[in-house]
Amino acid sequence: MMNLSTYKTANYKKLNEKGSFTFSAPSNIALVKYWGKKESQIPANPSLSFTLNHCKTMTTLTYETKDEKSISFDLLFEGQPKESFRPKIQKYFERIQDLCPYILDYHFTIDTQNTFPHSSGIASSASGMAALSANIIALERLVNPDQSEDYYEQKASLLARLGSGSACRSIKGNIVVWGETASIENSSDLFGVAFPYEVHSVFNNYQDTILLVDKGEKQVSSTVGHELMHHHPFAAKRFEQAHENIAKLKNILQSGDLEAFIALVESEALTLHAMMMTSMPYFMLMKPNTLEIINQIWKFRQETKVPVCFTLDAGANVHVLYPEKHKTEVQDFIQNELSKYCQNNQFIHDEMGFGVKEL
Ligand code: PMV
Repeated sequence: MMNLSTYKTANYKKLNEKGSFTFSAPSNIALVKYWGKKESQIPANPSLSFTLNHCKTMTTLTYETKDEKSISFDLLFEGQPKESFRPKIQKYFERIQDLCPYILDYHFTIDTQNTFPHSSGIASSASGMAALSANIIALERLVNPDQSEDYYEQKASLLARLGSGSACRSIKGNIVVWGETASIENSSDLFGVAFPYEVHSVFNNYQDTILLVDKGEKQVSSTVGHELMHHHPFAAKRFEQAHENIAKLKNILQSGDLEAFIALVESEALTLHAMMMTSMPYFMLMKPNTLEIINQIWKFRQETKVPVCFTLDAGANVHVLYPEKHKTEVQDFIQNELSKYCQNNQFIHDEMGFGVKEL
């Protein structure tokens, strides 16, 4: 069993040159939801996600040697200084400095941009933390070059997790499991692993259209939401259910049973929101248009038998999931029927992708 000390870099060299890397990392959408965590971003239950392809963050990391050992960085968003992002990045560096002591030898400039509109309600923390972590591991490959490919990939996911839990699922693989669970071999609480079994072809290039229902500031951050699972009356049962749902989904992904897929995915989305509605304090992140959309999807599915379903993250936006084969009819339905429930009629067509890429 891997433990955290495996990923602590003890021996490393100091580079004397200045250099830079650029990596992109996609967002991901959980089908079995992570909601609730322990110390150090260890999940209270396992989760499984589809990696996206178009909703991405691109981050350039420039490093420059300095004498004194300290955390030191400048932060740019689309080329402009962005002070409001600093605390999150500062905290990230503090959390990773034991595992990556070499970061203290450099001053960094981090320049980041997203492909999706800023404040669209699409969380950029998963793609952002994954892209930054891929850059840090690129630096580690230079200062500590003798590790295996698996080690670097696992550590990139582990660092991303310390930035934002779900970010660990955006490093590698089109279907990723995070959290130790009996049905998935080599699954770990420390990092995400690519789904290690064959997947039915119906899931190839699976489509996800994100309907932007509400672009406002979230009324509850995911940090607070996770926290509320600590004294939640249904928490233990929910955590157990997530293990069961991963085991069921493992079979569904292999068999291609879309009816079972739809039932499980929609139930997970509503369970996530049910946890929010039954915590103390309770809160509700769905908006009236979220419900309108869900009802329209159910009606369309019943009338057309097209296997389209929804999932939700911690917000009002709706992810519409469907097989590539039904792309035309579902995208027509979205344009003609669902877009009117979106802020400024906005939605983003995305599909399954693979993970970080060096640019
Ligand atoms: O990564 P966080 O701490 O922002 O939590 C994300 C939680 C959900 O998006 C609601 C579910 C998930 O598994 O991504």
